[in-house]
Amino acid sequence: MVVHYNPLTKEPYLQLPAPCANIIITPQREHQIEETAAVMTEILNDSRVYSWLQGPPYPFLPEHGVDWIKAKIAEHKDVVSTLQKEFETSDSQQGDGSNGQGEPEFFDKSPFVCIREVIKRDPATGALLEDVQIGDFTLVRYAFYELPPDSPERALAQKQNEDLPVGHKDIIWCIGCMEIPSETQAQLLTILTDYLSPTQHGRGIMSVAVRTVIQDWAIPRMNLHLLRGSFYAENMGSRRVMEKNNFEEICTLKDWAPVSPNKGGGKKSIVVMASYPRSSPRPPDERNQAKKYKLSEEADKEKTRRKWKKVLIEIRKHGRAKKRSGK
Ligand SMILES: CC(C)(COP(=O)(O)OP(=O)(O)OC[C@H]1O[C@@H](n2cnc3c(N)ncnc32)[C@H](O)[C@@H]1OP(=O)(O)O)[C@@H](O)C(=O)NCCC(=O)NCCS
Repeated sequence: MVVHYNPLTKEPYLQLPAPCANIIITPQREHQIEETAAVMTEILNDSRVYSWLQGPPYPFLPEHGVDWIKAKIAEHKDVVSTLQKEFETSDSQQGDGSNGQGEPEFFDKSPFVCIREVIKRDPATGALLEDVQIGDFTLVRYAFYELPPDSPERALAQKQNEDLPVGHKDIIWCIGCMEIPSETQAQLLTILTDYLSPTQHGRGIMSVAVRTVIQDWAIPRMNLHLLRGSFYAENMGSRRVMEKNNFEEICTLKDWAPVSPNKGGGKKSIVVMASYPRSSPRPPDERNQAKKYKLSEEADKEKTRRKWKKVLIEIRKHGRAKKRSGK
């Protein structure tokens, strides 16, 4: 009962629990490209949003939105159509979130990127009739922000993470990304990370959205074990969202991430946080699995500690090389 299904539109979606039950997270929609791009343009030109995001261009133009939405539709087409087939072949087509029969395959993407507020439901059936876009949510493979930008170490770490096969438990995933891995960047040039319309800030939505995407999609359908998040050091909203989802700080890097000249230029300090979401409380029927997760979680933590030690060595090396070259 994790992914829901709209029987009218055949759209799979995630449903936030109360007190955010009027919020859903859907894939991008082919029939609403212009409309969604217009909403994005309004939100991403608001300083309460763009000043916290490294990726999106400023000013943000409707055509940026159209390109982004089209790219997301293409990227998620296969996942969405597999989910639709699952629902069509399952006994339960009532939009109640049943995932159908048999062993699910793992996916490498989260198509649940559009945060929407439902504004009209069928009073008799509760089916969704109308909603408005209020934000975006992106979950991608991690890009190792703690390694020096444009360094060979970062490129290597990204490549190793990208090369892991679909569903591998060592893949490090990322929310609140500052930018995307270079391979994807070549196609998209920019990334729109997690944000909400300023009219929706501070209502608890993003904290619950993060939990819902992790628990209802990323763990069961992507086999997510390891998660990182990063944000500008002064972004208290992002910090709290991650803390409330059991992320722990692994480092703060001073004057680290380059800021585009249109957004003020210079460099901003960033915080990187890590989470092991499988250690969150889970229902009793998962107790046996929990034991298994705990073992691998300890191994993951040890691996991260070792990796982090290497990262620090690389950062120091980079600093020394920079000093020597006099930059
Ligand atoms: C950051 C953001 C996604 C948080 O979403 P949200 O739905 O407003 O967050 P929540 O309502 O779930 O709040 C979570 C916590 O953060 C706190 N918080 C939210 N915004 C805050 C702010 N601007 N300053 C201080 N604390 C803030 C809330 O009080 C809450 O803490 P509490 O539970 O201890 O009271 C949203 O504010 C936003 O879109 N900001 C602009 C874009 C951005 O920063 N994106 C993230 C890039 S990494």
